[in-house]
Amino acid sequence: MRELGDLVVDLSTRGDRATAVYRALLDAVRSGRLEPGERLPPTRALAADLGVSRTTVATAYDRLVAEGFLTARVGAGTFVADAARPVRPPRRGTDLAPRPGWDQQPHPTSGSTPKPAHDFRVGIPDARLFPFDTWRRLVTAELRVGAHDLGVYADPAGYPPLREALARQLALSRGVTATPDEVLVTHGTQQALDLVTRVLVAPGDIVAMEEPGYPLARDVFTSYGARVVPVRVDDEGLVVDDLPPSTRLVFTTPSHQFPTGPPLSLERRRALLDFAGRHRCAVIEDDYDSEFRFTERPLETLHSMDDAGRVLYLGTFSKSLVPGLRFGYLVAPEPLQAALRAALQLSVGYVDVPVQAALARFLEDGLHARHLRRARAAYGERRALVLEAVHGPLSAHLELVPCQAGLHVTTTLRDQEADDTDVVRRAAEHGVVVEALSSYAVTGRPRGIVMGYGAAVTESITPGLARLAAVLGAAPSTPPRRPR
Ligand SMILES: Cc1ncc(COP(=O)(O)O)c(C=O)c1O
Repeated sequence: MRELGDLVVDLSTRGDRATAVYRALLDAVRSGRLEPGERLPPTRALAADLGVSRTTVATAYDRLVAEGFLTARVGAGTFVADAARPVRPPRRGTDLAPRPGWDQQPHPTSGSTPKPAHDFRVGIPDARLFPFDTWRRLVTAELRVGAHDLGVYADPAGYPPLREALARQLALSRGVTATPDEVLVTHGTQQALDLVTRVLVAPGDIVAMEEPGYPLARDVFTSYGARVVPVRVDDEGLVVDDLPPSTRLVFTTPSHQFPTGPPLSLERRRALLDFAGRHRCAVIEDDYDSEFRFTERPLETLHSMDDAGRVLYLGTFSKSLVPGLRFGYLVAPEPLQAALRAALQLSVGYVDVPVQAALARFLEDGLHARHLRRARAAYGERRALVLEAVHGPLSAHLELVPCQAGLHVTTTLRDQEADDTDVVRRAAEHGVVVEALSSYAVTGRPRGIVMGYGAAVTESITPGLARLAAVLGAAPSTPPRRPR
């Protein structure tokens, strides 16, 4: 490190010396240590002081002149440009405030926490199963010059061959009959929820939600000023009879009620469609993890029973691939398409074209189906181990909510006065991460433990749940919450 007055140039590291001199001068100008109008030493003099070649200093000066921080006057020397005002230090606070409603939104959740020893987080697939090499090959192929015209803006609805592939796959695997024009490619379910709400829901409208239900859907609805009404679920799913008559939108997870588990019964499906027809309301069918079914019989979708165009069908690749790719889709009737596409364009434009094209290949070449077969086998094994523990060491404290699909198992506490959040906190202290059923419910009921097995290491499941059983057996660390 050499010093010239207060000009500090770090020449100790290897690399481009001209860049080091450039950075030091830029820093001095920006911080105000070199003031506008001040004359810089001649290149020869500064070079001698710094022990670098004159060309090195001249290159740094030229760059700063080109960027407008210095001006060179022929015969007079090089000066700090008048326009090069020092940058003010960053401000700390602000007197701006989010508009009402946003100040109460929960903070964004981040999954990038260290992986716990016994990982039963809900809704997380196993990224180790993801075929990275195949995916890299497909994306690389789509990034070749000429593969796509990336110099123009693309269709906000999504890459047409991907929409065609999705329409074909949905017809085959879910009985969802849709033309490619009815399919929109989104950044996950989350963006689809945002689009639907933005287009269909006005502030003050009633949105009915399953209770317990998916918090990130609830938060979207409230962020648009909707009045979210929690509606009970039982062992047949959403209790349709409890829907308020003036409901504008119903959010439901018919294949695998989130988070409790049962599918919406056939009778309730009919009742829900009937309700939607009578009250002219829309229904969001969030089909988030039905790729993972552990029975022979595939579950029908609500969309396939709807002949009035009231069901908006949402799907995601967050479970069947990985959430980090942010791929989802929305199937909506043609008359809503223009508004939904406009909303999509206004929010993110569209999903990156080359990765959409890679996903289209992944689906069309049968690679997704192959990945699902492998993943299903791995998850099936983990699920069996969780169920073994629920029927074994955990059975004194927890009761299983029967269900045949997805990546998690839900239980209720036999003692409904016990505090599930306290159990979760104490389990985490023992390296066992599970979730409290009450945390998905605005009423805080029912209480129970939800155990994801997507991300769990197979060998850690049985010992992890033995620890959970020990935690459940020990006395609570806090007095039980008062019953509501
Ligand atoms: C009920 C429900 N819907 C959808 C999703 C997927 O959301 P996204 O596609 O935004 O990742 C999840 C993920 O946990 C979920 O639990």
